[in-house]
Amino acid sequence: MQLRILVTAAAFAAALIGALPASAADTLRALAPSAGIRIGTAVNVEALNTDAAYARLLAREFNLVTPENAMKFSVVQPERGRFDFAQADALVEFAEANGMQVNGHVLVWHQQLPDWLTQGNFDSHELKAILREHIQTLVTRYRGRVASWDVGAEAVDENGRLRETFWSRGIGPDYLALAFRWAHEADPQAHLRYNDYGGEGDGAKSDGIYDLMAELRRKGTPIHGVGLQMHASLKDAPRASEVRINMKRLAALGLETHISEMDVMLTLPASRADLRAQAALYRDMLQACLAVPQCRSFSVWGATDRYSWIPDFFPGQGAALLFGEDGRAKPAYNSVRRALRAAKTGKR
Ligand code: XIL
Repeated sequence: MQLRILVTAAAFAAALIGALPASAADTLRALAPSAGIRIGTAVNVEALNTDAAYARLLAREFNLVTPENAMKFSVVQPERGRFDFAQADALVEFAEANGMQVNGHVLVWHQQLPDWLTQGNFDSHELKAILREHIQTLVTRYRGRVASWDVGAEAVDENGRLRETFWSRGIGPDYLALAFRWAHEADPQAHLRYNDYGGEGDGAKSDGIYDLMAELRRKGTPIHGVGLQMHASLKDAPRASEVRINMKRLAALGLETHISEMDVMLTLPASRADLRAQAALYRDMLQACLAVPQCRSFSVWGATDRYSWIPDFFPGQGAALLFGEDGRAKPAYNSVRRALRAAKTGKR
């Protein structure tokens, strides 16, 4: 009789615990090491400086951070030769204070460039000097403190060819290999990545990215990893099996892989069925990463729906992340946590 009361009390306590936020031993970052990966998020540095609950959530759940905007060209070098590291420093200091790794983002990309650069009519010689100075100033400043860099991003178009951009037009197709060399010179220990979207599964773009990676490796370019962004919707997501196969062929080139910016946009207001389907998609993509030894990290593009870029860029869409606007865990959080917990006794 007494035993039965005890058992019932224990079951009740267990049910209660399920509804509570994760205890320190059961957060994503506590579970990630035994699953063999890092668990990351993009960070909005303005929010970090003003919203204490947001900062606490980041520190509790993640052990890898990527600045969402704070290290982009227009933020870091708003005028020629004038570097502004206020936001980037805040991010790196926050990461260090909380035992998190930093992924620097992004060194050569065709977006969020300052007008002085895009309107400057520079010739290829000048552009090379500007890009080299930009890359080396950033990478040198954070040498030994930023473990990895997204050196190049979104250089491949939808057909798998080298995208025509400000950089490819201005410097020529070699701009990417040059950027990797300059970054490597500035910090030979840093893990250097290429980062792109829409090339996660199979298709022309994935093949184009693979070919570009193969060519860079063949030429001896110091490149060590590929970030598959994984901005998805319920209607438009790669199959986990394709992602696994794609990661494996990249691994065969000697490259680590990362899911670098996952979010899953939903039509607003999000239905319960969509939130459940979103949870399943997060789980499937995390499991694809867990199944490939060379997949080293899984990052989301923002921690809470409050600071997600999706509603601004895709009107009517949102609710894309693991935590709601109020900071409460969504079904997707629970499915990611379960998958990490299940991986504990797995491959690594
Ligand atoms: C987005 C940010 O989230 C927005 O705040 C900003 O206005 C535009 O850029 N792929 C990337 C990221 O690599 O840098 C982009 O971030 C989202 C798509």
